[in-house]
Amino acid sequence: MADWNNPLDDPAADPFAIAAEAAADLHRLTGVEKHDIAVTLGSGWGKAAELIGETVATIPATEVTGFSRPALEGHVGTLRSIRTPGGKHVLVIGARTHYYEGHGVRRVVHSVRTAAAAGAATMVLTNGAGGIRETWRAGQPVLISDHINLTADSPLEGATFVDLTDLYSRRLRDVARSIDPSLDEGVYCQFRGPHYETPAEVQMAKTIGGHIVGMSTALEAIAAREAGMEILGFSLITNLAAGIQKTPLSHAEVIEAGREAEPVISSLLARVIGAL
Ligand code: HPA
Repeated sequence: MADWNNPLDDPAADPFAIAAEAAADLHRLTGVEKHDIAVTLGSGWGKAAELIGETVATIPATEVTGFSRPALEGHVGTLRSIRTPGGKHVLVIGARTHYYEGHGVRRVVHSVRTAAAAGAATMVLTNGAGGIRETWRAGQPVLISDHINLTADSPLEGATFVDLTDLYSRRLRDVARSIDPSLDEGVYCQFRGPHYETPAEVQMAKTIGGHIVGMSTALEAIAAREAGMEILGFSLITNLAAGIQKTPLSHAEVIEAGREAEPVISSLLARVIGAL
């Protein structure tokens, strides 16, 4: 028997069985039998956890089957169970595995499958991303209306034909706009990363109908839809995309924009979750 670092790395393993095990770990460690909503916090969104409600339990992700240590500073490696004032149980995922880490798409979508196995019917995916629309500014949150998956990969295995119409639920976007009517929306293009796009790639994304460029979310949304969840997507525009902004991109700039916007967008996200 091979000594897999992570059970998901065994190609013979069933990723849904591992997600079910992870959900059982969550139940045991949080005492919460069923979660209603799951939220993945990307760069800039981390403070939302404190504002959503009362924390029931915080768990290092490494104690839950199939999760791995986060690769990036600014991404907290915890899973948190929160009870909203309305009595809903929210699973806050601060341990995103990015596709660019190269561990395969099963690991990328494990948190989403775990949330579904834990009972969540709603998946809120947030990220920090580059903006293509010139009217957008760093620090602005936007809704994701649809995506273009440029990874040439999928979390679906075998002949699993899943409809992706209205993948980012119009109903949930309307709920978000009932909290902040000024929210704009756009089409998210997931690139592999971890390099930022070239200006030519950004122009390509624009030409094919994209408005936001990033390195996450699309693969997770597909897995969430496969699991039957309703999806809400939020991007924090941390910078204008390469070539749209005239200065070079840097990770430090992305983190700084996230830090500055964090109080405002975290409170927005907490209010939206309260209204779901
Ligand atoms: N491109 C891709 N990912 C990103 C960007 C970007 O411009 N900004 C933050 N994440």
